[in-house]
Amino acid sequence: SALADTDRPRSGPEVVAHRGASADAPENTLAAADEALVQRADAVEVDVQRTADGHLVLVHDATLARTTDVARVFPTRALAPVGAFTLAELRRLDAGSWFSPASAGERIPTLGEFADRLRGRADLLVELKDPARYPGVEKEVAYEVDGRRGVVVQSFDHDVMRSFAEAAPDVPAGWLFDGRPTAAQLDDAAAHGVTQINPSFEVVDAALVAEVAARGMQTGTYTVDAPDDMRRIADTGVDRIITDRPAVLRTVLAG
Ligand code: G3P
Ligand code: CA
Repeated sequence: SALADTDRPRSGPEVVAHRGASADAPENTLAAADEALVQRADAVEVDVQRTADGHLVLVHDATLARTTDVARVFPTRALAPVGAFTLAELRRLDAGSWFSPASAGERIPTLGEFADRLRGRADLLVELKDPARYPGVEKEVAYEVDGRRGVVVQSFDHDVMRSFAEAAPDVPAGWLFDGRPTAAQLDDAAAHGVTQINPSFEVVDAALVAEVAARGMQTGTYTVDAPDDMRRIADTGVDRIITDRPAVLRTVLAG
């Protein structure tokens, strides 16, 4: 399996914690990784960007404004892009207080730290977030995750994913889609060794899951947080569901 570390007998889809268990802990932090493990996620999804001095860090947005206290620590740079900061600068930011007082002091983790936290306990789904901003980032992520078990790398940028596949042919790869993938896109993905087709849940139905499976690939989908949607999506036969609420999804799947 592509997700070898936590292979287990299973019926129904894998549970993937979106940015960690991000309904209950600050997204893309080690606290969100720990909460995902408590909520029995099979895997954790994160968003990777690159610092000015070349470190791979986990942040979703283009800026730090929503998820840190950047406006207090660096008042003149509150809306600067993530990639304009060094790792040492990012480490000064509080990535938890925006979420809740109890999360104060959480720091932005590196990809390596986050992967170490999960190692052997849950798989890791790494999204290259807007990789066109970071030329060559796919090769750096390839280097970081090559040899780690239970890691999958995905992006909406399929050109960059083609480059990733050349750099790391043995690392399972996913293509993200906003809308419903066309047959031509599925053929293209299969020809490039893609293992996961990961569209937005609104476009997922049993016919799409079958089209993907007919080409030897799996279907995952994001971001499914309402129990009614969880039930409908699980019934399509998808291989994994990405959710902010792993514990809720577990309950729905058990029911
Ligand atoms: O894993 C897919 C999903 O995370 C893509 O959307 O905006 O949450 O990164 P976004
Ligand atoms: Ca993401």
